[in-house]
Amino acid sequence: MINRQPARLPQHVAIIMDGNGRWAQQRGLPRTMGHRKGVEAVRETVRVAGEVGISYLTLFAFSSENWSRPETEVSDLMGLLKAFIRRDLAELHSENVRIRVIGSRENLRGDILPLLIEAEDTTRHNSGLTLVIAFNYGARDEIARAARKLAVKLAAGEISAQQIDAVALDRELDTFGMPDPDLVIRTSGEERLSNFLLWQAAYAELLFVPEYWPDFTRETFIAAIEKYGRRDRRFGGVNPVAAAVS
Ligand code: IPE
Ligand code: IPE
Ligand code: MG
Repeated sequence: MINRQPARLPQHVAIIMDGNGRWAQQRGLPRTMGHRKGVEAVRETVRVAGEVGISYLTLFAFSSENWSRPETEVSDLMGLLKAFIRRDLAELHSENVRIRVIGSRENLRGDILPLLIEAEDTTRHNSGLTLVIAFNYGARDEIARAARKLAVKLAAGEISAQQIDAVALDRELDTFGMPDPDLVIRTSGEERLSNFLLWQAAYAELLFVPEYWPDFTRETFIAAIEKYGRRDRRFGGVNPVAAAVS
């Protein structure tokens, strides 16, 4: 357990787990070994999130653009996700973790979709950490699908054009019902969002850390949460202290 309680805890942390391939290449190993090691970092990160009392942890596991990778790597990644759910679902469930999956559910191969649905259904009533797996996820695709759902409702006469606003669109996103991420962390030193939560991260604090994902430890995670605690979030307003002295 952690005794260094950060001053201000993010309710929702989202992580772009990047750098598995480079971690492996640096060691002369095939990229897939980096992905394997990355699963261990996932386990540790989920544990720490639960311990410190974060309510939502979103992990970017596979993007809608990652299909463009070589077939062997794509099938390795699918295999690892399936193995993770098969091996860890019972334990996550016993730890009161609720699993939700965001991303497109169209055109998924083989037995992956039933497994994802099983993970969601099994843990549906859990009240601890919500682990959100972003799989086959791309923010532009998510926003476009939400717009399409609104268009269908409009065409059916269920809503009027005037009712289409940010709140209505937000309700059609895969993340419906979840708070927006407070903190988005990207590992591996890359400083971009790569089509991750573009809508929801509008006011998220962004943190780019140099470690490759397999090297992301409990300490790195705690340090990131502490850094978040020192950020001044203004949401377009003014800091009350600054406003009082001016
Ligand atoms: C992140 O690591 C895992 C996924 C994108 C699925 P990468 O595979 O992107 O590793 P790098 O960025 O090539 O090092
Ligand atoms: C983002 O990483 C996707 C995931 C972490 C799943 P990428 O490695 O795919 O992103 P780019 O290609 O460097 O932008
Ligand atoms: Mg990458």
